[in-house]
Amino acid sequence: MAVEEGRPLSLKRGEKVREKKLPYVTAIMAISVDGKISEGVYQAARFSSKADLRHLERQVAQCDAVIFGANTLRAYQTSIVVREPELLREREERQQPPQPLHVVCSISGQLLPHWRFFSQPLPRGLITTFEGLQNWQRREAEAGVLGEGRGKSGFFQEFFIVDYPLDWVELMAKFYSLGYRKIGVLGGANLFSSLLKLGLVDDLWLTICPLLMGKTSALGIVSPSLLADFPLPVSLKLVEVKVVGEEIFVHYGVNKKGNGEEI
Ligand SMILES: NC(=O)c1ccc[n+]([C@@H]2O[C@H](COP(=O)([O-])OP(=O)(O)OC[C@H]3O[C@@H](n4cnc5c(N)ncnc54)[C@H](OP(=O)(O)O)[C@@H]3O)[C@@H](O)[C@H]2O)c1
Repeated sequence: MAVEEGRPLSLKRGEKVREKKLPYVTAIMAISVDGKISEGVYQAARFSSKADLRHLERQVAQCDAVIFGANTLRAYQTSIVVREPELLREREERQQPPQPLHVVCSISGQLLPHWRFFSQPLPRGLITTFEGLQNWQRREAEAGVLGEGRGKSGFFQEFFIVDYPLDWVELMAKFYSLGYRKIGVLGGANLFSSLLKLGLVDDLWLTICPLLMGKTSALGIVSPSLLADFPLPVSLKLVEVKVVGEEIFVHYGVNKKGNGEEI
């Protein structure tokens, strides 16, 4: 799908109507047939195939930045590096740097410097509050003492300091103004739901994997508590379906209207 130019968005929030140029946002996740993204909050979802990992790499390679929630990083401790030569060449042709910016959202700043993420060959960004930044910097200083300093350029190269609760519209507008025009959202449910309820997700790639998770601890693709005050359901529009092996790759557009409220 072609990357749309900055999308002006009118948001009705009480009396306030805001017009912003926003990036094009694609969420990419793998789900079980019962709609679960993992067996539990801090558990990595390892149920998809190599074909899905290649699909994920391809999607990441389209992006200027990818964003994920802190629990996703806590679960995986790594992110996706674009390695496929063809994808790297395409990025070069589009005048994008070899890797998108990998941005973790952690209000608490409670992340661990020894995670492999911090030694992966990726540019890294952190969305956090001032307090979260102080928490992170304490951990970073301790890691320095322990000799865990990773990479030449440090742990994070970009910081996005926000107030809590987070104003995602402002933040997305900031990403746009910094040149991050195409953003991938890599999960988890918390982050995805926060963006979905603000009408900030444009499309969604789901990989439906052949299993039923079944467990009560398993996490659904959306967090119902976060969508409690949101007019449901969110309707989707089918764009594309591919079957590879035993997995179904489904591409949906997210309908922004018709949910009872104009977003
Ligand atoms: N199947 C898949 O494709 C897939 C993809 C990604 C993740 N997952 C799974 O998803 C699970 C994690 O998902 P999750 O829903 O628990 O968490 P998440 O969205 O990954 O992270 C939640 C955390 O991120 C920060 N955060 C995210 N959105 C925020 C917001 N709007 N406001 C404030 N803080 C925000 C907070 O960090 P702090 O706690 O630091 O303040 C929050 O606790 C893991 O089990 C992982 O394996 C699966």
